[in-house]
Amino acid sequence: MINIQQITKKYGTVTALDAVSLEVQRQEFFGLLGPNGAGKTTLMNLLVGYFNPDSGTITIDGGSVTQDTLEIRKKIGFVPQSLSLYDELSAQENLEIFGQMFDIPQTLLKKRIEEQLHAVELYERRKDKVKTFSGGMKRRLNIIASLLHDPKVLLCDEPTVGVDPQSRNAIFDFLTSLNKQGMTIIYTTHYMEEAERLCSRIGIIDHGKIIALGTLDKLLEKLSYEETISIIKNPSTAKNRAAFEKFGTLLEEDNHYELKPADGFLLSKFFAAMEKQDIKYSWVELQRPTLEALFLQLTGRRLRD
Ligand SMILES: Nc1ncnc2c1ncn2[C@@H]1O[C@H](COP(=O)(O)OP(=O)(O)OP(=O)(O)O)[C@@H](O)[C@H]1O
Ligand SMILES: [Mg+2]
Repeated sequence: MINIQQITKKYGTVTALDAVSLEVQRQEFFGLLGPNGAGKTTLMNLLVGYFNPDSGTITIDGGSVTQDTLEIRKKIGFVPQSLSLYDELSAQENLEIFGQMFDIPQTLLKKRIEEQLHAVELYERRKDKVKTFSGGMKRRLNIIASLLHDPKVLLCDEPTVGVDPQSRNAIFDFLTSLNKQGMTIIYTTHYMEEAERLCSRIGIIDHGKIIALGTLDKLLEKLSYEETISIIKNPSTAKNRAAFEKFGTLLEEDNHYELKPADGFLLSKFFAAMEKQDIKYSWVELQRPTLEALFLQLTGRRLRD
């Protein structure tokens, strides 16, 4: 559905994207995960044809983004990172303006606006000025504004920034249902939890390069250890550092130790040893491998500083 080949984009001396290649299949929910400045927004802007790459090609649904820009744009819904709404106008009026940009026949537009307002539970508030809306309501409105022309592909650039957890869940549910109905989605985020929860495939981007790509399971397999064990720091555990170290590499953090199990690690043996040393189970916590850990392993940095 989306084919990105060897895209490079520079701003002056800054290389925002460095020979990025990526394919996204029809109906995929693809996550682009990366820290600030990684190049996510630049890639989204290139996909909608806001500007052209310095080199490389992008095709969407068989058409070239640089050559068939207007045709392609009709197939894409773009939810920009910064809200693009008129604060002094009502939700309904905002949607009418967005709809007119796409030449949708009036009756059809009216019907779609109504449907979309219901879909994100904003129908009751449709006549209220956007400036009276919460962050989450604005984000939901921003999303449906990009759907009125019934696109095949939805590009969401960090659509949950500044949104409370409840609204965030509402956005996740809405996007998931769109995807189930056939929408191809590219979703950028710097929250690994979002990529893990939503996306069927994830690309990790850093300094303009895709540094890892695959399903969540495949990505986590790249971690050199499968899970970490976190042990609360207290006088008893501090005394038993040597016992932990028999099972792997022990890192000391502010409030806890982090054990990275060595090859052949067996949880049963570990807990048996802990019992002997009077280490309480409640002091020990198994930590699932995460994309954050993978990012750390690949770059030596955390996703969020
Ligand atoms: N208009 C511009 N002029 C100059 N440099 C830019 C411009 N837009 C982006 N950049 C630079 O290009 C790089 C990639 O920026 P981009 O906005 O694509 O990153 P991002 O992954 O979307 O980051 P964020 O998570 O902060 O939104 C950064 O180094 C940024 O400073
Ligand atoms: Mg961005």
